[in-house]
Amino acid sequence: MTQEKRPVTLITGASSGIGAALAHEFAANGHELVLIARREQGRAALAEALDQRGLEADVVVNNAGFGLVGDADTLDRAEQLAMIDLDVRALTDLSLAFVDSLKRRRGGILNVASTAAFMPGPGMAVYYASKAYVLSFSEALHRELKPKGVRVTVLCPGPVPTEFQARAGLAADAFPRILKRSAEQVARDGYRSLKEGRRVVVPGFANSVATTLTRFAPHGLLLDLIARQQKGRR
Ligand SMILES: NC(=O)c1ccc[n+]([C@@H]2O[C@H](COP(=O)([O-])OP(=O)(O)OC[C@H]3O[C@@H](n4cnc5c(N)ncnc54)[C@H](OP(=O)(O)O)[C@@H]3O)[C@@H](O)[C@H]2O)c1
Repeated sequence: MTQEKRPVTLITGASSGIGAALAHEFAANGHELVLIARREQGRAALAEALDQRGLEADVVVNNAGFGLVGDADTLDRAEQLAMIDLDVRALTDLSLAFVDSLKRRRGGILNVASTAAFMPGPGMAVYYASKAYVLSFSEALHRELKPKGVRVTVLCPGPVPTEFQARAGLAADAFPRILKRSAEQVARDGYRSLKEGRRVVVPGFANSVATTLTRFAPHGLLLDLIARQQKGRR
């Protein structure tokens, strides 16, 4: 009797927070995990390592990312560029690197953006802009790859208590409780939405309402509001 192969899922940033919860969620649903560590061995080496084991990627989860709080002109420039390297460049690279195998396997891509993707973010300008890129890129990719049999979902969490806040320089109690979700809740929503082939998922009713309202708010007002909020979050 031949044993059915378990789907292979590549996950970045699985050492903590949302990535660790996503790893548990995919594993609990029968996936074999390939966890991509911080010091990446490089995409080519990764593809080679998969080849050697006779594995093909079914799902790619681009979760690794970090943010930095502060005005862009006062934050370290190199650190802000490193944020773009990870949140934007590495995510784009991995979204495209395994696309042939994803097409063959009729698999999917789960990209982690943020509710920050829906608005400009004075006080965290590069992070918000990076996540706006992730949202825009992933939605477009969803449309391009759908007819080719690949699902693309972009997961846009609001505040989730993880190591993210300390790394970014945010106060632990920076966000109202109504917006907070646990990493496990977010991971469940992400997994289910990818499975259902949804384009965008914003976990939590309050976050969903907030992101919808930002579409109608005048940008001038929104910028003032976010700038004021960010100052109070440090
Ligand atoms: N927490 C939130 O409130 C929140 C809200 C919206 C969106 N998000 C997004 O969710 C994703 C996961 O964040 P999290 O909250 O789970 O944060 P986290 O607990 O700090 O985890 C971040 C993960 O990314 C990895 N990482 C950090 N810097 C890296 C680098 N330079 N190269 C490679 N990997 C790196 C970390 O690996 P190491 O262990 O090696 O550091 C860790 O596994 C991020 O994309 C974040 O922007 C978070």
